[in-house]
Amino acid sequence: MSKLLPEFPWDRLEPYKATASAHPDGIVDLSVGTPVDPVPQLVQQALTDAADSPGYPTVWGTPALRDALVGWSRRRLGATGLTHRHVLPLVGSKELVASLPTQLGLGPGDRVAYPRLAYPTYEVGARLAGADHVVYDDPWELDPDGLRLLWLNSPSNPTGRVLTADELRRTVAWAREHGVLLVSDECYLELGWEAEPVSVLHPDVCGGSYDGLVAVHSLSKRSNLAGYRAAFLVGDPAVLGELLEIRKHGGFMVPAPVQAATVAALGDTAHVTEQRARYAARREALRGALEANGFRIEHSEASLYLWATRDEPCWDTVGDLAKHGVLVAPGEFYGDAGARFVRVAFTATDERVRAAVQRLGG
Ligand SMILES: Cc1ncc(COP(=O)(O)O)c(C=O)c1O
Repeated sequence: MSKLLPEFPWDRLEPYKATASAHPDGIVDLSVGTPVDPVPQLVQQALTDAADSPGYPTVWGTPALRDALVGWSRRRLGATGLTHRHVLPLVGSKELVASLPTQLGLGPGDRVAYPRLAYPTYEVGARLAGADHVVYDDPWELDPDGLRLLWLNSPSNPTGRVLTADELRRTVAWAREHGVLLVSDECYLELGWEAEPVSVLHPDVCGGSYDGLVAVHSLSKRSNLAGYRAAFLVGDPAVLGELLEIRKHGGFMVPAPVQAATVAALGDTAHVTEQRARYAARREALRGALEANGFRIEHSEASLYLWATRDEPCWDTVGDLAKHGVLVAPGEFYGDAGARFVRVAFTATDERVRAAVQRLGG
């Protein structure tokens, strides 16, 4: 089965990681976007308060969790008219991205589309289902024949690009016209810097109807919960109902303490504001240092990354920065169109970001 998949991209970075780690003051790892700041205290407390959970949790989650998912989606996404049937918990969103085409019953002859520069797991999901995959620049230019699943990702990993409400509206209309399920990965929605990301579920975009629309959300980045595996879907009850049945058979259960922690995290915005301020400062510092070092930054108006180029092959940039003890991700990981870019994550501690800035001579 693994033969269906490309080489695990991060393995190719290992030699550069070894070079960067040999720096006398240690590596500054800006390659993987993994949170490094503490899990908010109130979330830790909710987790430990629920530690005595001997029984099986349910795939649909507790009523309290579903209330929290509906409430947050109403407040933060502006989605109207949601009920428990419009939400479904996930064991982190990566498992869903990788298994959605299979869980939807897609297979040979079906097509899955995703952006030309994208999180690699969209392709993995299509491959695992034995479906075909196709990339797009503008989704409404796609050939709808056999297209069963259209992924959007705004804010984008890796480019940080944010789709406007107009672009979203046009894509929703196109997908509905052609009967294509549109799934919008919005896991960076709360991390807009120079743009305010809009959800595909906002009434200005979807017209208040969730037909054929699903949004993916995650607490990994928003609440430093990548280690807990906490995410969820919001949208079309017909699609979510079908997924719930399949996922019950498959045992895709969020552990009960994590469900409780999710309720606490979604009920609080103070920690999100605090975390955003940390990232904003790191982003500014790294951006200044990269630009002073001859880099051009494209897009990057949201998410946890700077999409940077020195107009040279990405592996040259990766190699050069590794010699300075700084590890970044080659743009090629996200598609051929990224071959002259690197993705610089600002998920490192303030101390490590200062070290990177110093090494870049910013
Ligand atoms: C675009 C995108 N979607 C989904 C994920 C998966 O996040 P998680 O599984 O932590 O929810 C990531 C993680 O980096 C991502 O960048």
